[in-house]
Amino acid sequence: MDKKLLWWQSGVVYQIYPRSFYDSNCDGIGDLQGIIQKIDYLHALGIKAIWISPIFPSPMADFGYDISDYEAIHPIFGSMKDFDMLLEEVHARGMKLLLDFVPNHTSDKHPWFIESRSSKDNPRRDWYMWYDALPDGSAPNNWLSVFGGSAWEWDHNTQQYYYHGFLKEQPDLNWRNPQVQEAMLNAMRFWLDKGVDGFRVDVAWHMIKDAQLRDNPPNPDYLQWQPTYDTLLPLFSTDQPEVHAIMESMRQLTDEYEERVLIAEIYLPIRQLMLYYGTDLNGAHLPFNFQLISLPWKADVIARAITAYESALPHGGWPNWVLGNHDRSRIASRIGEQQARIAALLLLTLRGTPTMYYGDELGLQDVAIPKHEIVDPQGLNMPDKDLSRDPFRTPMQWNNSPYAGFSIVKPWLRVSNDFQSRNTEAQERSASSILNLYKEVLRLRKDSTSLSAGSYREVFYSDKVLAYLRYDDHDNPYLIVLNFTDEKAFVSLKDEYHGQIVVSASLGKTLASFNTGVFEMPPNEGYIVRLRS
Ligand code: GLC
Repeated sequence: MDKKLLWWQSGVVYQIYPRSFYDSNCDGIGDLQGIIQKIDYLHALGIKAIWISPIFPSPMADFGYDISDYEAIHPIFGSMKDFDMLLEEVHARGMKLLLDFVPNHTSDKHPWFIESRSSKDNPRRDWYMWYDALPDGSAPNNWLSVFGGSAWEWDHNTQQYYYHGFLKEQPDLNWRNPQVQEAMLNAMRFWLDKGVDGFRVDVAWHMIKDAQLRDNPPNPDYLQWQPTYDTLLPLFSTDQPEVHAIMESMRQLTDEYEERVLIAEIYLPIRQLMLYYGTDLNGAHLPFNFQLISLPWKADVIARAITAYESALPHGGWPNWVLGNHDRSRIASRIGEQQARIAALLLLTLRGTPTMYYGDELGLQDVAIPKHEIVDPQGLNMPDKDLSRDPFRTPMQWNNSPYAGFSIVKPWLRVSNDFQSRNTEAQERSASSILNLYKEVLRLRKDSTSLSAGSYREVFYSDKVLAYLRYDDHDNPYLIVLNFTDEKAFVSLKDEYHGQIVVSASLGKTLASFNTGVFEMPPNEGYIVRLRS
């Protein structure tokens, strides 16, 4: 293994949505002891780091992304003792643990906000974004909440509006206030001192807003199905230049500790995204790259996006790729069950840190949730738009017992109907399952410096197929050929390549020989070819 690479560069990140992973105490909601009980599954899978969505005290208006205490554990997930045990168990296996840090907003039940809203002259008034109404009584500007409606909430008691980029139960902190900065960095320090290996920073590009509160302009490309938030372009409410100083301060703190990582959630075009690496790489280690989530599943589109991303990276900036998360439709639903296998090969053989979402290794699909069972505020607030995120947050499927072995009582969200065949136990037994495909590629990636650290070179693409090389001085080069369609596809490589297909998307592990430059790829097929050096 190349000694120069750090764990967060060579290893794979696995996101756990803790409510849905494993319920150890039979209340229908996953918990920390549940993660501990399943940790050997994750270790055997071959991932390096676990990122857990928020586990802190919260009224759960946004399922934990509304935090009322940054330095404690929500009893629904367990106790601080359980957390310490989890951290120990993770580290004992040479793995890493990342927490979800939510700096942009707190819960409206956080003591800071309760104080802040109590009176205009409360010392914490300025910790949040309080503004007077316009002369006609209306909100300070036209900014919208991501979850629907105006981003301004009128406070009758103190006769001012406060800003909330998400729910009104999630008031935005005022990051221009040095006391807020200090308090939030202290919260990060609390967990770093405990030994957590880093953070995923929630909605990092929202943290600072235009000081003049200028109106956002209309979005000329708005389509009717989109959230109402998209009717405007959030030019003044997000991605302000001053945000980078905040990222820098978080990075500085992280750098006081050894080998910790700062990952930032940012949905922005590549050019703006790159700025979050910071001047001289003093920002986030990994500004999340969501292109595999957002782009159409077409070989030529993805090929061009990879090249554009690679060439836009700042010098020394480490790439990363994300295939799914708790906010977006599952990959297997978006592109189909067969193509989800191609996506696995792509994610794990591109250059950079891959992030996978729990259950994607089983090909879990979005689960249709009947209207009366919807609990996600995004779905409930815009009922006509089908924007609920519940379908991508359903319980992990462990075996074929009732509730998929996730719990012995009815879970907080219904389990997919396919759990009797789609579960870890069944897939472990089937050599050609997607789970075993993931395991095989993760193993291969771990053993190969070409795949985990090597350079990327595109060698062919068409509207159906993408082929590229991964190579490194210390290892055999690899050729990856992926058919993005369910039709056979012609491939013409400039050079002839000789080697062995070590993984095929349809079969998993194989050892067929490969000696060609021109050939036909079967439908839904993908190869990882170890080339002769
Ligand atoms: C992030 C989270 C999402 C949450 C939002 C508000 O986008 O991923 O789940 O609702 O921030 O905190």
